[in-house]
Order: sequence, then structure tokens, then C-alpha cells
Amino acid sequence: GVPMTGGPSTLTFPELRHQLAQRDAVAEGYETQIVMRWGDAVLADAPAFDPTAQTEAAQAQQFGYNNDFIDFKPLPQGSRSADHGLLVVNHEYTDSSMMFAGIGTGSAARLRTNAEQAKVELMAHGLSIVEVRRTDGRWAAVPAGRYNRRITGATEMRISGPAAGHELMKTGADQTGTKVFGTLNNCAGGNTPWGTVLTCEENFNQYFGGAAARTGALAEMYRRYGIVENASYAWGRFEDRFNLDKEPNEPNRFGWVVEFDPYDPQSVPVKRTALGRFKHEGCTHVVNHDGRVVLYSGDDERFDYVYKFVTARPWNPNDRAANRDLLDEGTLFVARLSDDGKVAWLPLVHGQGPLTAENGFRNQAEVLINTRRAADLLRATPMDRPEDVETNPVTGRTYVILTNNTSRGEDRIDGANPRPRNAHGHIIEIVPPSVNGRPDHAATEARWEIFLLAGKPGQDAGARYHRATSDQGWLSCPDNCAFDSKGRIWIATDGAPSAAGVADGLYASDTQGPGRALTRLFYQAPTGAEVCGPCFTPDDSTIFLAIQHPGEDRGSTFERPSTRWPDFQDTMPPRPAVIAIVKRGGGSIGA
Ligand code: FEO
Ligand code: CA
Ligand code: CA
Ligand code: CA
Repeated sequence: GVPMTGGPSTLTFPELRHQLAQRDAVAEGYETQIVMRWGDAVLADAPAFDPTAQTEAAQAQQFGYNNDFIDFKPLPQGSRSADHGLLVVNHEYTDSSMMFAGIGTGSAARLRTNAEQAKVELMAHGLSIVEVRRTDGRWAAVPAGRYNRRITGATEMRISGPAAGHELMKTGADQTGTKVFGTLNNCAGGNTPWGTVLTCEENFNQYFGGAAARTGALAEMYRRYGIVENASYAWGRFEDRFNLDKEPNEPNRFGWVVEFDPYDPQSVPVKRTALGRFKHEGCTHVVNHDGRVVLYSGDDERFDYVYKFVTARPWNPNDRAANRDLLDEGTLFVARLSDDGKVAWLPLVHGQGPLTAENGFRNQAEVLINTRRAADLLRATPMDRPEDVETNPVTGRTYVILTNNTSRGEDRIDGANPRPRNAHGHIIEIVPPSVNGRPDHAATEARWEIFLLAGKPGQDAGARYHRATSDQGWLSCPDNCAFDSKGRIWIATDGAPSAAGVADGLYASDTQGPGRALTRLFYQAPTGAEVCGPCFTPDDSTIFLAIQHPGEDRGSTFERPSTRWPDFQDTMPPRPAVIAIVKRGGGSIGA
């Protein structure tokens, strides 16, 4: 039977049962509310969403596709409001099969989009900033909120930090190497203590293609970043900058962490090159005991690495403007996790160790543009696809979510990646050393431990949780996480339907005490969808979730989707949407 209480867990909700269904589900005693869907108005002049008559101009003013990262920025600015704020939401990628009529399915579906559809897709990327308010217990967007903004694949941005202006950053359209249009494949993200948001460019390789991927001067670097001749998007046919043969340097301007101010809709987003170029899943911060800011980031690829960036200076809590370019100066490190439980943080600094001209790095800009190769030379530990890396605000331990890696062979296992053909992923804790009882996240050493090994206990080899974990509480393919103010971890999954035959969901667990690693199923996504962006209001009374790619199942199309979540109208395709979950009658999520 389904346990009604948490056993040794402090979480009090009754668990859901694992299943796959067209509708989503949340634990009894809680309710879900739809806040924003693909196509909903963001800007004042946005037309009503018509899925059969999509245009570039309409999509540029509407909520984009495939919502992922969510941040909640309270209003007024600087308050801890839990009823009024800005939702900042990433739009990771587009799925032509599910967005447009007549495309069909298969790996070449995107190549069947026409020029106008390609432009719609470009506008459906980026982010939305939407003012939201809770009135009489219900969350809703504030129509035409004054901070509302769309950032798209074409929004003008600045490039800053050590790689700005380098030869490899210059294109035909930008001889300065400091100005770029758009941000792409924004998966997760983070924020800063001074109120800006960090949005992260992940699988940027998919947009660029051309024969130069094989034969060009940059072929080796393209290969290390997964850029191939045949791009999976058709955009290169309609816009030269996505064609490597015309603009070989354009992809060098993607793969960065982008900082922007959600409280200033006119602000120009900035690509912060000091944080390195790779497939950034996210980028989350912790303020160190000395006031320096430490930002953790995973490179989501099989056998890629975990990074952190330490600012050169402390942040200034009294002068917001003084922090404006704090992220341009500091040190990027990559992690080596040895089998004795130690973490060594290795600096990616030009001139140190192998990062020299003899090895092809003439300056720090080249170390950062080719971060992956620099980290290879430092012999960082190849991980099972690092997703979110996030620090528990109560314990100071940093959680590294490793989603899966079925390519890991028996001969490549190690202490921190202990399973061959790791189909279900695992979660590692990094324990920083203490200085006067406070964690030192800037230190070059730490320890690591395994928090859990995912999969079904008793069925999947090596699956490991608290022994009281129920038949409903095990999970597969962890991706994003969030912590509530009690220091409990909330884990969102991506890939469980194919890896484990259960829906993706949101699971919660204590991180310390008798309920440590006892995960419990709280929310279940509709078929085809992953759960992203878990984000609490400052009082834990609401958790926002981004439900991404509903209906993205094999054979599912715009015309014949596997679900029509969340509208369930015959004329409406499934729509990625942000939902709010609240407790009936009020109170903290999870209690
Ligand atoms: Fe876009 Fe790493 O998930
Ligand atoms: Ca995703
Ligand atoms: Ca993700
Ligand atoms: Ca993922």
C-alpha cells in the first residue's frame, strides 16, 4: 500500500503512485494551477495564440516554447514577497513536430520547417519575464506587466570578460567580437545575490552546420563541442550566421552563461566569458564566508565535467552597481574526484600547468573559448552527464546531479561514477572544508560522497537509497533540483519514461537526519513531459514547475499528439507550461 506518512521522513504528503498518463497528478492535499502556457501573451500587443496561424511577430510577444529554468523575483524589488513577483523562465528548444501542422515525426522533422516556421522557432527560444500575482489563492499573470519582456534567439547582447574581442569571437556582422544576437538552448540557470539572473546556453551545437565542421580550421574544436556538418535545425538555410561555411566563428559566441537584470526591461544581457564555454546546464551561486561569490556549473554531456567559478572580489551588498561586472574577474576551476573521496579543484588559468602556448593556448581567451579541451588536459573527472549543481542553504553541501550515462563501460567506472551503463543516474554531495565552522566554497579541495544511486531498488543493479524508500519513491534520471528552507531536496527528473517506464516527476527527500535519501513522489508529469525548474517562493508556500515537452512521445505529432495537456481541447496541441503547486488551505509545501 501507499504509505500515508513519511516513515522517518519529515515530509508529510501521501505519495503518488508511479504511472504514465495523459494528465498530470500531485499528492493529495495539494493543487496545481496553470500560470503560463506556450503562446500566452507576454507583451501588451501580443495577439491571441492561434496554433494554426503562427508568425514570427506573434511569437516574439508570446510565451516561448519548452519552458525549463524558473526564477521567482519578488516585487517590489528587494522584498521577500510570496504573492507578487516576476517569473523568469527559459525556453530551451523547439520541437517542430509538435509545434506545426504537416511536419510529421523523425529525426529530420526540423529540416522540414519553412522560413517562417524557422523564424517562429528562433522567437520561441530565449526567455520570458512575466509579472505574476496571487489573488484569492490563485496565481495568474498580470496582463502587460511593466517588467514583462521577451528575450529571444535574436535579442542583442554584449560579450564581456577575457574572451570578448578575441579573433575567434569576430564575425562578418560584428568586427568587434563583443556584440551577439540571441541566446540559445537555455536549459537551467541561476541568479546572483545582487538580483540578476544567470541563464545558461546548453546544447548550442545543434543550430550550426556546414562542411567546415569536417574540413574547416576549427574542425577539432567543433568536434569537441558536438558541432557536425548536418545541423539538426534548418536555420542555416535561412540565416547565414547559422552556416559554418559563412560564419565559422558564430558558434564560439554560444555556450556561455548570460547575466541580465530582470528588473530593468531595457537592460542588455551580457555573456560572461570568464565562466567558460561548454554545455552549461545551469549556474548556481553560494556566497562564501569571505563575501566572494562561488558559482557551480555542470557540463551536460556524457563524460564531461563539473566546474566552479570564484569571483576575484567580494560582492557589495550596499551598492548594487558595484557588482555589475563582478563576474568578469575570477578563477574558473574544474573538478577531479578521486576514489579516496577527495575533490581537487583545478584552475583553468593560462600559463599554469599544461595551459600554455605549446599546447595551443595563447592567452586566457583561448582557454575559455575551448574550455573543454583545457579541462581535458587538466585530467578532470569525466562524469555521468552533470546537470544541476546546487548548494543546500542549510547544510552548505553542494549537490551534483548526474542524469545518466549508458555509454560508460565496465572499464571506465570509478568511485564517483561507479556503475557501468548508468541508465538512471545518481547524485553526489560535495562537502567543502570549514573555516571557523563555515563552509569554504572557494577552497581548492573538498570531499565527495554519494547521496543516492537512482533506479528501482532490487531491480536495477546498484540502486541505493534509504532502505525505507517505497515502491513509489524511487526515481530515474534526476536533472534539476531545489531546496526548501528546511534544507530538503526536491528533485525533478528527465528521461524516466524511456529509462524506467514511469512518468517524470518531482521527488522530495530529507538530506540529513533519519530520513536522509528517503525520496518520495510528489508530482507526476503528463506523458512525454519532463519536469524542470523547481522554484519555491521565499516562504515555501508555492513551488513553480516548468512542464517541458508534454506529448513528446514516439510517433506523437501536432495533429495526433499523445496528450493535449494542459487544455485538452481538440484544436489545441499540447503546450509546455509553467504551473504553480500550492497546499489546499495554505501552508508550506511538504510541511
Ligand atoms: Fe537541457 Fe541538461 O538538460
Ligand atoms: Ca530539457
Ligand atoms: Ca536540464
Ligand atoms: Ca536533461
